[in-house]
Amino acid sequence: MKNIEQTLEQLNKKIIDYYDNIRDIDVLPSYKKPGEIRNYLKQNFAFKNPKSLDSLIDEISEILIKGTIHSTHPRYFGLFNPSVDYSSIIADALVSAYNPQLAVWSQAPVAQEIENHVLKLIAKKFGYNPATCFANFTSGGAEANHTAVLCALTDKIHDYDKIGLYNKSQPIIYVSQEAHDSFSKIAQFTGIGRNHVREIKVNEDMQMDITYLKNQIGMDISNGFVPVMVTATAGTTSAGVIDSLEEISKICQHYNVWFHVDAAWGGAAAFSPKLKKLFRGIEQADSITCDAHKWFSVAMGTGMFFSKNSEIVTKTFRIKTAYMPANTNNAFDPYSTTMQWSRRFNGLKLFMLFANLGVGGFTKRIEQQTEMGDLLRNKLKEETGYSILNKTKLPVICFTHEKLKKDSDFDLIIEKIYERKKVWISKIVLANGKIALRACITSFMTNEDDINILVNEVNQALSHIYNA
Ligand SMILES: Cc1ncc(COP(=O)(O)O)c(C=O)c1O
Repeated sequence: MKNIEQTLEQLNKKIIDYYDNIRDIDVLPSYKKPGEIRNYLKQNFAFKNPKSLDSLIDEISEILIKGTIHSTHPRYFGLFNPSVDYSSIIADALVSAYNPQLAVWSQAPVAQEIENHVLKLIAKKFGYNPATCFANFTSGGAEANHTAVLCALTDKIHDYDKIGLYNKSQPIIYVSQEAHDSFSKIAQFTGIGRNHVREIKVNEDMQMDITYLKNQIGMDISNGFVPVMVTATAGTTSAGVIDSLEEISKICQHYNVWFHVDAAWGGAAAFSPKLKKLFRGIEQADSITCDAHKWFSVAMGTGMFFSKNSEIVTKTFRIKTAYMPANTNNAFDPYSTTMQWSRRFNGLKLFMLFANLGVGGFTKRIEQQTEMGDLLRNKLKEETGYSILNKTKLPVICFTHEKLKKDSDFDLIIEKIYERKKVWISKIVLANGKIALRACITSFMTNEDDINILVNEVNQALSHIYNA
């Protein structure tokens, strides 16, 4: 058996080998069926005989490699799950080792200020005043969106914090047809109810239709409903489309509703001088969602919530207890300003990323991935039979081929692509009903060769199905 120093060295080697040789492993897993995995675990992990940590490193790595869709792979063109930067792996190890508790500022003052420091950097990129805005890390975008809806209700519905929606006019929230579906669940969690999420029709560019939004708000007011919040999406999940933030902001001001921007994935592009203008109007938002664990190459569990209105945020989450340590002057205790109570030091990952790369280095990565998106778009245009179905400058490409006519054709081609395990893309149904193949650049390691392999894999799958 190894001593702990040797075991940690072995762990280092395992991680480095994985990343050094990532292009040699399959993007898709060989374990697929739940029964196969459950049987393996039953046979090998009855938890009767202790196993050494060094043997566990080997065993767990082996089954994870076999049984994971490798979202860290440069040829995973998927759902915003990024290649992870080494800074995240190191930060996660440090966080587990010191295990600071971030519920109360005084228990982990350095960790709290490290988080605040990096959150201010992001807030400034969105045009917020870092000295006065509120910001915290969340488990992800869904929690940040949930936080936003709770703040909107607290702000717009009198005494919502005390008596909830009892005896109140029905609040309504507005999202576009292409918005993230977390809002349906959030509507249920908050007592708004799923039927009171208005899904606003999108225009032909798949942006929220402004006229339709105005008409719907007007109609709801005449019918006695209370509009509380509009969410604009800055980088839709399916197609990377950015809603007209400035126009939506004006409508929100006019009707006195909370203006939220869900920039869970797209927000990172605000670092690029070339792309920043697409986010014009975001500085007007009452709150913003942006995930570090998407386009920032940070490991999972790292979302962010920002708000201009720290008074409403603190009113929403306020709590007093006899058993928690007393508040420190000029500092927030996150258990009384956010949804979580015990809180992991997740922000260190983002702090270490920027400390290591610098803003310039990070911006280069964003622009390089955007260029890879443009390259894929151009290559598909050069090939015969392809068409691009979404309009965005962000690196997500929804495309189809003239041979793909019906839903089952798309399923078949995806199946063929997955069989070869070289690339991962997905099928998507857009708001206009069109079906597409969706490829998103989610890795800072993706290069031109990877793009060529992707195009080749789609071509091969097409010729296998249609020339067989
Ligand atoms: C636009 C948008 N908002 C919110 C979310 C939810 O984020 P999370 O999965 O981190 O909770 C996603 C996830 O893809 C998203 O694309």
